[in-house]
Amino acid sequence: MAYGDVGVELGARVAGALRRGLGVEITPAEAVIRPSTRPGADYQCNAAMALAKKLGTPPRQVAQAIVDNLDSADLVAGTEVAGPGFVNLKLSDGWLAARAAALLADDRLGVDSAAEPRRFALDYSSPNVAKEMHVGHLRSSIIGDAVLRLLRFAGHEVTPHNHLGDWGTPFGMLIEHLVDEGWTPGGGHTISDLNGFYQAARVKFDADPAFADRARARVVRLQSGDEPTLALWQQLVDESTRHFEGVYATLGIQLTRDDLYGESFYNPLLDDTVSDLEGKGLTRVSDGAVCVFPPGFTNREGEPLPLIVRKSDGGYGYAATDLATVRYWAGERGMTDLLYVVGTPQAQHFAMVFAASRQAGYLTDGHTAVHIGFGSILGEDGKTIRTRAGGSVKLAELLAEAVDNAAKIVAERSAQDAAAQAEVARAVGIGAVKYADLSNDREKDYVFTWSRMLATEGNTSVYLQYANARCHSVLTKSGTTPDPATEVLLGTEQERALALALVRLPAAVDAAVAGYAPHKLCAYLFEAATTFTAFYDACPILKEDVPAELRASRLALVAATSRVLTLGLGLLGIEAPHVL
Ligand code: ARG
Repeated sequence: MAYGDVGVELGARVAGALRRGLGVEITPAEAVIRPSTRPGADYQCNAAMALAKKLGTPPRQVAQAIVDNLDSADLVAGTEVAGPGFVNLKLSDGWLAARAAALLADDRLGVDSAAEPRRFALDYSSPNVAKEMHVGHLRSSIIGDAVLRLLRFAGHEVTPHNHLGDWGTPFGMLIEHLVDEGWTPGGGHTISDLNGFYQAARVKFDADPAFADRARARVVRLQSGDEPTLALWQQLVDESTRHFEGVYATLGIQLTRDDLYGESFYNPLLDDTVSDLEGKGLTRVSDGAVCVFPPGFTNREGEPLPLIVRKSDGGYGYAATDLATVRYWAGERGMTDLLYVVGTPQAQHFAMVFAASRQAGYLTDGHTAVHIGFGSILGEDGKTIRTRAGGSVKLAELLAEAVDNAAKIVAERSAQDAAAQAEVARAVGIGAVKYADLSNDREKDYVFTWSRMLATEGNTSVYLQYANARCHSVLTKSGTTPDPATEVLLGTEQERALALALVRLPAAVDAAVAGYAPHKLCAYLFEAATTFTAFYDACPILKEDVPAELRASRLALVAATSRVLTLGLGLLGIEAPHVL
């Protein structure tokens, strides 16, 4: 049984108090309940100040009315009006203890499932064929996958789609290069180095006019659906996909071949989309190109900015394809929310695509369309990350290095055999790369630092994984499995603080889901793990002189902590090994 966020519950109680005391109606959210760090308060209600203005009553008087009329003896042990009109609320130990124990009986650990589930289409990863995935695709893959897990856990329907860059003029030269390399339709060929392959094709295209002519002719054949050309193109797509799948497998990214909706998928829909825009009178020809000018976008001179839907040579580009994605997912597939996990440099592109889609009626009031943007990964010199040799970082190498670095840390501490250590090193290394990414506000750039991301203290996945492994170790040594009927005792400050931290999981998940903001869940998990560490250091559990009921209570808290950490890491796509 999920019971949701305590803050929402408190908000409902405050709303009741205001109805009874002052005859005003507010929603639980308008009660503005926030966690408090003041001594003697777990939460505070900040509603009185705004209400005072509306009612023409002094804020402290409104606050006092809340306190006087609060019907919450079961939930709240103490209230106090503070400062200009804050209401401090302290939860009752009995309630807190019961709820902490109840966590053990709830698969969802208190997190509510959406009352009105929505239908999300989620564009993420989206690398380009015949090129290595770069760190931007790494971020999109990691963030997108966490968003997918969070939304699904919150009870929504999510359809992921991988917008492969698999169409357009470069494919002429790439296919001609395949032919030169002896590829034949149907032959089982492989490419070991995608970037090398692309560069070789490019060099020939620039240096050899005959090759360039062949490449141009090949694009025409590809566009017109020539079978042998399509067969070669398909092999190139398959071979690139094989490389991407390698990265997904290493990272535990859930995308599969069924989720491929590359640019080529939308190609047959482009004619119709552009005619539709033309028919609605939304297009204008500018410098020979068919453009839409969504309202609110101007250049520095104040002139309207074009979104080019058909180029002057008759070809379609990136914008036309994305208008087709909106039309397809919202229209054809009936999705309510369209999400695109793509770097912030494309913010304006998406803003314009969404605005044009609203004009065209592809998006209505019932739809949301969100560009889930993210910043760059910087090297320790503050510049875009590079390898030691100065080249762009290859993802596979970066991930292998993460696992190698983790293996050293694991070897220092672990008593397990080599195979088990290797498995743990993988979970730790890959987790560190993902967590370093997810724990930062995604809009911001962040500096990629091995030492920091693999530090065993601080806001890292290793720290969370260690805390969880410690829980498992204690539980294993105890030889018992705590159950929800255990009476939880909150005799010390650290036990109470831990119980409070554990029951705050629902609020953290809700916030991460609402803002597509995994870092909010990370911040919560770090807080919970820190609170657990303080508890573990202060409260003996298995020592002989600990009375049986106290030991059982503390073991229940340990078990609940482990459940919270494991669920939280899982929502981020990070493993939580029992032994580290
Ligand atoms: N392939 C593009 C790139 O590498 C990203 C595509 C993002 N998705 C989209 N619908 N535009 O930059």
